[in-house]
Amino acid sequence: MADQPIIKLHDGNMMPQLGLGVWQASIDDARNAIVEALKVGYRSIDTAAIYKNEEAVGQALQETDVARDDIFITTKLWNDDQQNGQQAIETSLKKLQLEQVDLYLMHWPCPEKDTYVDAWKKMIELQQQGLAKSIGVCNFHEVHLKRLIDETGVTPVVNQIELHPMLQQRTLHAWNALHQIQTESWSPLAQGGEGVFDQDVIKQLAKKYSKTPAQIVIRWHLDSGLVVIPKSVTPARIHENFQVFDFRLDKAEVSEIAKLDQGKRLGPNPEEFNG
Ligand SMILES: NC(=O)c1ccc[n+]([C@@H]2O[C@H](COP(=O)([O-])OP(=O)(O)OC[C@H]3O[C@@H](n4cnc5c(N)ncnc54)[C@H](OP(=O)(O)O)[C@@H]3O)[C@@H](O)[C@H]2O)c1
Repeated sequence: MADQPIIKLHDGNMMPQLGLGVWQASIDDARNAIVEALKVGYRSIDTAAIYKNEEAVGQALQETDVARDDIFITTKLWNDDQQNGQQAIETSLKKLQLEQVDLYLMHWPCPEKDTYVDAWKKMIELQQQGLAKSIGVCNFHEVHLKRLIDETGVTPVVNQIELHPMLQQRTLHAWNALHQIQTESWSPLAQGGEGVFDQDVIKQLAKKYSKTPAQIVIRWHLDSGLVVIPKSVTPARIHENFQVFDFRLDKAEVSEIAKLDQGKRLGPNPEEFNG
Protein backbone atom coordinates (compact mmCIF):
# COMPACT_ATOMS: atom_id res chain seq x y z
CA MET A 1 0.00 0.00 0.00
CA ALA A 2 1.08 3.62 -0.51
CA ASP A 3 2.87 5.42 2.32
CA GLN A 4 -0.08 6.44 4.49
CA PRO A 5 -1.46 5.59 7.94
CA ILE A 6 -3.06 2.17 8.20
CA ILE A 7 -5.29 1.15 11.11
CA LYS A 8 -5.35 -2.38 12.51
CA LEU A 9 -8.94 -3.44 13.15
CA HIS A 10 -9.74 -5.68 16.11
CA ASP A 11 -10.13 -8.72 13.82
CA GLY A 12 -6.52 -8.21 12.64
CA ASN A 13 -7.41 -6.76 9.22
CA MET A 14 -5.76 -3.53 8.09
CA MET A 15 -7.66 -0.44 6.88
CA PRO A 16 -6.24 2.79 5.43
CA GLN A 17 -7.05 5.71 7.73
CA LEU A 18 -7.99 7.97 4.79
CA GLY A 19 -10.33 6.90 2.00
CA LEU A 20 -12.60 8.30 -0.69
CA GLY A 21 -16.37 8.49 -0.17
CA VAL A 22 -18.64 8.40 -3.22
CA TRP A 23 -22.14 9.18 -1.89
CA GLN A 24 -24.22 11.27 -4.32
CA ALA A 25 -21.88 10.59 -7.24
CA SER A 26 -23.20 9.14 -10.49
CA ILE A 27 -21.60 5.91 -11.72
CA ASP A 28 -19.51 7.84 -14.26
CA ASP A 29 -18.42 10.50 -11.78
CA ALA A 30 -17.64 7.92 -9.12
CA ARG A 31 -15.61 5.79 -11.57
CA ASN A 32 -13.55 8.80 -12.68
CA ALA A 33 -13.09 9.93 -9.08
CA ILE A 34 -11.95 6.46 -7.97
CA VAL A 35 -9.49 6.12 -10.87
CA GLU A 36 -8.09 9.56 -10.04
CA ALA A 37 -7.93 8.79 -6.33
CA LEU A 38 -6.06 5.54 -6.93
CA LYS A 39 -3.51 7.47 -9.05
CA VAL A 40 -3.04 9.97 -6.22
CA GLY A 41 -2.47 7.19 -3.68
CA TYR A 42 -5.84 6.54 -2.01
CA ARG A 43 -6.28 2.86 -1.24
CA SER A 44 -9.73 2.85 0.36
CA ILE A 45 -13.13 3.45 -1.24
CA ASP A 46 -16.45 3.80 0.60
CA THR A 47 -19.64 3.03 -1.32
CA ALA A 48 -23.04 1.50 -0.44
CA ALA A 49 -25.83 -0.37 -2.17
CA ILE A 50 -28.10 2.65 -1.73
CA TYR A 51 -25.60 4.99 -3.47
CA LYS A 52 -26.35 3.12 -6.71
CA ASN A 53 -22.77 3.45 -7.86
CA GLU A 54 -21.16 0.16 -6.75
CA GLU A 55 -20.65 -0.55 -10.48
CA ALA A 56 -18.17 2.34 -10.53
CA VAL A 57 -15.82 0.45 -8.24
CA GLY A 58 -15.81 -2.59 -10.54
CA GLN A 59 -15.18 -0.36 -13.56
CA ALA A 60 -12.38 1.57 -11.83
CA LEU A 61 -10.70 -1.67 -10.78
CA GLN A 62 -10.65 -2.73 -14.44
CA GLU A 63 -8.99 0.58 -15.40
CA THR A 64 -6.39 0.96 -12.68
CA ASP A 65 -2.95 -0.61 -12.44
CA VAL A 66 -3.27 -0.89 -8.67
CA ALA A 67 -3.67 -4.50 -7.54
CA ARG A 68 -7.01 -5.54 -6.01
CA ASP A 69 -5.25 -6.74 -2.86
CA ASP A 70 -3.89 -3.23 -2.29
CA ILE A 71 -7.35 -1.61 -2.29
CA PHE A 72 -9.76 -1.65 0.66
CA ILE A 73 -13.39 -1.66 -0.53
CA THR A 74 -16.31 -0.92 1.78
CA THR A 75 -19.97 -1.34 0.90
CA LYS A 76 -23.13 -1.41 3.01
CA LEU A 77 -26.26 -3.44 3.64
CA TRP A 78 -29.25 -1.18 3.02
CA ASN A 79 -32.08 -1.00 5.55
CA ASP A 80 -34.72 -2.70 3.36
CA ASP A 81 -32.40 -5.70 3.09
CA GLN A 82 -31.82 -6.30 6.79
CA GLN A 83 -33.68 -9.61 6.41
CA ASN A 84 -32.15 -10.35 3.04
CA GLY A 85 -28.41 -10.15 3.72
CA GLN A 86 -27.32 -13.06 1.55
CA GLN A 87 -28.93 -11.78 -1.61
CA ALA A 88 -27.94 -8.19 -0.83
CA ILE A 89 -24.22 -8.92 -0.55
CA GLU A 90 -24.27 -11.18 -3.59
CA THR A 91 -25.90 -8.38 -5.62
CA SER A 92 -23.33 -5.87 -4.32
CA LEU A 93 -20.41 -8.19 -5.11
CA LYS A 94 -21.70 -8.69 -8.65
CA LYS A 95 -21.88 -4.92 -9.22
CA LEU A 96 -18.47 -4.42 -7.61
CA GLN A 97 -17.05 -7.30 -9.70
CA LEU A 98 -15.52 -8.70 -6.54
CA GLU A 99 -15.54 -12.02 -4.73
CA GLN A 100 -15.13 -10.37 -1.35
CA VAL A 101 -15.51 -6.89 0.12
CA ASP A 102 -12.96 -5.76 2.68
CA LEU A 103 -15.62 -4.28 4.91
CA TYR A 104 -19.39 -4.84 4.94
CA LEU A 105 -21.32 -2.36 7.09
CA MET A 106 -24.94 -2.43 8.24
CA HIS A 107 -26.09 1.02 7.10
CA TRP A 108 -28.49 2.02 9.92
CA PRO A 109 -29.93 0.24 12.97
CA CYS A 110 -33.54 1.31 12.17
CA PRO A 111 -34.68 0.57 15.76
CA GLU A 112 -38.39 0.42 14.91
CA LYS A 113 -37.87 -2.45 12.48
CA ASP A 114 -36.06 -4.33 15.27
CA THR A 115 -34.26 -6.58 12.79
CA TYR A 116 -30.71 -5.34 13.25
CA VAL A 117 -29.64 -8.18 15.56
CA ASP A 118 -30.84 -10.79 13.05
CA ALA A 119 -29.16 -8.84 10.27
CA TRP A 120 -25.92 -8.89 12.29
CA LYS A 121 -26.18 -12.67 12.80
CA LYS A 122 -26.47 -13.01 9.03
CA MET A 123 -23.48 -10.70 8.50
CA ILE A 124 -21.43 -12.96 10.79
CA GLU A 125 -22.34 -15.86 8.49
CA LEU A 126 -21.43 -13.81 5.40
CA GLN A 127 -18.01 -13.21 6.91
CA GLN A 128 -17.65 -16.93 7.62
CA GLN A 129 -18.57 -17.62 3.97
CA GLY A 130 -15.69 -15.35 2.94
CA LEU A 131 -17.90 -12.76 1.22
CA ALA A 132 -16.80 -10.00 3.63
CA LYS A 133 -13.33 -9.88 5.15
CA SER A 134 -14.49 -7.64 8.03
CA ILE A 135 -17.95 -6.64 9.26
CA GLY A 136 -19.13 -3.53 11.01
CA VAL A 137 -21.95 -1.03 11.33
CA CYS A 138 -22.87 2.60 10.67
CA ASN A 139 -24.93 4.97 12.75
CA PHE A 140 -25.14 2.67 15.79
CA HIS A 141 -25.50 4.18 19.25
CA GLU A 142 -24.27 2.51 22.44
CA VAL A 143 -27.62 0.82 23.08
CA HIS A 144 -27.65 -0.79 19.62
CA LEU A 145 -24.02 -1.85 19.82
CA LYS A 146 -24.53 -3.35 23.24
CA ARG A 147 -27.36 -5.52 21.93
CA LEU A 148 -25.22 -6.83 19.05
CA ILE A 149 -22.38 -7.70 21.39
CA ASP A 150 -24.60 -9.20 24.13
CA GLU A 151 -26.73 -11.26 21.75
CA THR A 152 -24.03 -12.52 19.34
CA GLY A 153 -20.69 -12.13 21.13
CA VAL A 154 -19.31 -10.53 17.95
CA THR A 155 -18.22 -6.90 18.13
CA PRO A 156 -18.29 -4.80 14.93
CA VAL A 157 -14.81 -3.71 13.87
CA VAL A 158 -16.01 -0.28 12.71
CA ASN A 159 -18.82 2.12 13.58
CA GLN A 160 -19.14 4.70 10.80
CA ILE A 161 -20.97 7.75 12.16
CA GLU A 162 -21.61 11.34 11.21
CA LEU A 163 -18.63 13.19 12.64
CA HIS A 164 -17.15 16.60 11.82
CA PRO A 165 -16.10 19.63 13.87
CA MET A 166 -19.73 20.67 14.41
CA LEU A 167 -20.80 17.19 15.54
CA GLN A 168 -17.93 15.49 17.34
CA GLN A 169 -19.77 12.63 19.09
CA ARG A 170 -17.04 12.37 21.75
CA THR A 171 -19.00 10.09 24.09
CA LEU A 172 -19.81 7.58 21.34
CA HIS A 173 -16.24 7.79 19.99
CA ALA A 174 -14.92 6.98 23.48
CA TRP A 175 -17.42 4.11 23.92
CA ASN A 176 -16.37 2.66 20.56
CA ALA A 177 -12.70 2.90 21.55
CA LEU A 178 -13.36 1.18 24.86
CA HIS A 179 -14.83 -1.75 22.92
CA GLN A 180 -12.06 -1.76 20.27
CA ILE A 181 -14.50 -0.48 17.66
CA GLN A 182 -12.82 1.88 15.19
CA THR A 183 -14.81 5.08 14.69
CA GLU A 184 -15.05 6.22 11.08
CA SER A 185 -16.26 9.74 10.24
CA TRP A 186 -18.91 10.26 7.59
CA SER A 187 -19.54 13.75 6.19
CA PRO A 188 -16.09 14.58 7.66
CA LEU A 189 -16.00 17.93 5.84
CA ALA A 190 -19.53 18.74 7.03
CA GLN A 191 -20.59 18.19 3.41
CA GLY A 192 -18.38 20.92 2.00
CA GLY A 193 -17.82 23.22 4.92
CA GLU A 194 -21.25 24.28 6.27
CA GLY A 195 -19.47 27.16 7.96
CA VAL A 196 -16.64 25.01 9.36
CA PHE A 197 -14.14 26.25 6.78
CA ASP A 198 -14.88 29.86 7.86
CA GLN A 199 -14.15 29.32 11.55
CA ASP A 200 -11.25 31.45 12.81
CA VAL A 201 -9.36 28.53 14.33
CA ILE A 202 -9.54 26.57 11.07
CA LYS A 203 -8.47 29.60 9.03
CA GLN A 204 -5.58 30.36 11.43
CA LEU A 205 -4.30 26.78 11.30
CA ALA A 206 -4.62 26.77 7.50
CA LYS A 207 -2.40 29.86 7.43
CA LYS A 208 0.08 28.43 9.95
CA TYR A 209 0.57 25.18 8.01
CA SER A 210 0.08 26.61 4.48
CA LYS A 211 -2.84 24.23 4.01
CA THR A 212 -6.49 24.66 3.02
CA PRO A 213 -9.33 24.58 5.58
CA ALA A 214 -10.39 21.18 4.20
CA GLN A 215 -6.90 19.79 4.77
CA ILE A 216 -6.92 21.10 8.35
CA VAL A 217 -10.26 19.39 8.99
CA ILE A 218 -9.04 16.09 7.48
CA ARG A 219 -5.86 16.32 9.57
CA TRP A 220 -8.01 16.91 12.67
CA HIS A 221 -9.83 13.60 11.99
CA LEU A 222 -6.52 11.78 11.51
CA ASP A 223 -5.01 13.30 14.66
CA SER A 224 -8.16 12.37 16.59
CA GLY A 225 -7.65 8.69 15.70
CA LEU A 226 -10.58 8.56 13.30
CA VAL A 227 -10.86 6.86 9.92
CA VAL A 228 -11.94 9.55 7.45
CA ILE A 229 -13.57 9.31 4.01
CA PRO A 230 -13.98 12.77 2.43
CA LYS A 231 -15.99 12.67 -0.77
CA SER A 232 -15.06 14.57 -3.90
CA VAL A 233 -15.57 14.10 -7.61
CA THR A 234 -13.33 17.09 -8.38
CA PRO A 235 -9.79 16.00 -9.34
CA ALA A 236 -8.10 19.02 -7.69
CA ARG A 237 -9.94 18.36 -4.41
CA ILE A 238 -9.24 14.62 -4.58
CA HIS A 239 -5.53 15.59 -4.68
CA GLU A 240 -5.91 18.28 -2.03
CA ASN A 241 -7.67 15.97 0.42
CA PHE A 242 -4.81 13.46 0.22
CA GLN A 243 -2.00 15.99 0.78
CA VAL A 244 -2.30 15.75 4.54
CA PHE A 245 0.55 13.47 5.56
CA ASP A 246 3.31 16.10 5.71
CA PHE A 247 2.09 17.90 8.85
CA ARG A 248 0.34 17.19 12.15
CA LEU A 249 -1.83 19.16 14.54
CA ASP A 250 -0.56 19.20 18.10
CA LYS A 251 -2.76 18.34 21.08
CA ALA A 252 -3.60 21.97 21.83
CA GLU A 253 -4.70 22.54 18.23
CA VAL A 254 -6.88 19.42 18.25
CA SER A 255 -8.43 20.72 21.49
CA GLU A 256 -9.06 24.16 19.95
CA ILE A 257 -11.04 22.52 17.13
CA ALA A 258 -12.91 20.47 19.76
CA LYS A 259 -14.44 23.76 20.92
CA LEU A 260 -16.33 24.06 17.61
CA ASP A 261 -18.65 21.19 18.58
CA GLN A 262 -22.29 22.27 18.44
CA GLY A 263 -23.90 18.84 18.38
CA LYS A 264 -25.27 19.84 14.99
CA ARG A 265 -26.37 16.96 12.77
CA LEU A 266 -26.56 17.25 9.00
CA GLY A 267 -28.11 13.80 8.65
CA PRO A 268 -30.88 12.01 10.56
CA ASN A 269 -30.68 10.93 14.20
CA PRO A 270 -30.20 7.13 14.14
CA GLU A 271 -32.71 6.75 17.01
CA GLU A 272 -35.42 8.20 14.80
CA PHE A 273 -34.46 7.05 11.32
CA ASN A 274 -36.26 3.94 10.16
CA GLY A 275 -36.34 4.51 6.40
N1 LIG B 1 -22.90 5.59 6.60
C1 LIG B 1 -23.66 6.62 6.34
O1 LIG B 1 -24.84 6.70 6.77
C2 LIG B 1 -23.10 7.74 5.52
C3 LIG B 1 -23.83 8.93 5.37
C4 LIG B 1 -23.27 9.95 4.61
C5 LIG B 1 -22.02 9.78 4.02
N2 LIG B 1 -21.35 8.59 4.15
C6 LIG B 1 -20.02 8.38 3.52
O2 LIG B 1 -19.16 9.45 3.88
C7 LIG B 1 -18.63 10.04 2.71
C8 LIG B 1 -18.30 11.49 2.95
O3 LIG B 1 -19.45 12.21 3.39
P1 LIG B 1 -20.26 13.27 2.47
O4 LIG B 1 -20.10 12.89 1.06
O5 LIG B 1 -21.63 13.34 3.02
O6 LIG B 1 -19.60 14.66 2.78
P2 LIG B 1 -18.13 15.29 2.93
O7 LIG B 1 -17.09 14.34 2.50
O8 LIG B 1 -18.09 15.88 4.27
O9 LIG B 1 -18.23 16.49 1.89
C9 LIG B 1 -18.40 16.27 0.51
C10 LIG B 1 -18.66 17.63 -0.15
O10 LIG B 1 -17.53 18.47 0.06
C11 LIG B 1 -17.00 18.90 -1.16
N3 LIG B 1 -15.54 18.90 -1.01
C12 LIG B 1 -14.72 17.83 -0.99
N4 LIG B 1 -13.45 18.20 -0.82
C13 LIG B 1 -13.46 19.53 -0.69
C14 LIG B 1 -12.44 20.50 -0.50
N5 LIG B 1 -11.16 20.13 -0.40
N6 LIG B 1 -12.80 21.81 -0.42
C15 LIG B 1 -14.09 22.17 -0.52
N7 LIG B 1 -15.11 21.30 -0.72
C16 LIG B 1 -14.79 19.99 -0.80
C17 LIG B 1 -17.50 17.91 -2.19
O11 LIG B 1 -17.64 18.52 -3.45
P3 LIG B 1 -17.23 17.84 -4.89
O12 LIG B 1 -17.54 16.39 -4.84
O13 LIG B 1 -18.11 18.60 -5.84
O14 LIG B 1 -15.77 18.14 -5.08
C18 LIG B 1 -18.86 17.55 -1.64
O15 LIG B 1 -19.81 18.52 -1.99
C19 LIG B 1 -19.76 9.81 1.68
O16 LIG B 1 -19.36 10.05 0.35
C20 LIG B 1 -20.11 8.39 2.00
O17 LIG B 1 -19.15 7.52 1.41
C21 LIG B 1 -21.87 7.59 4.90
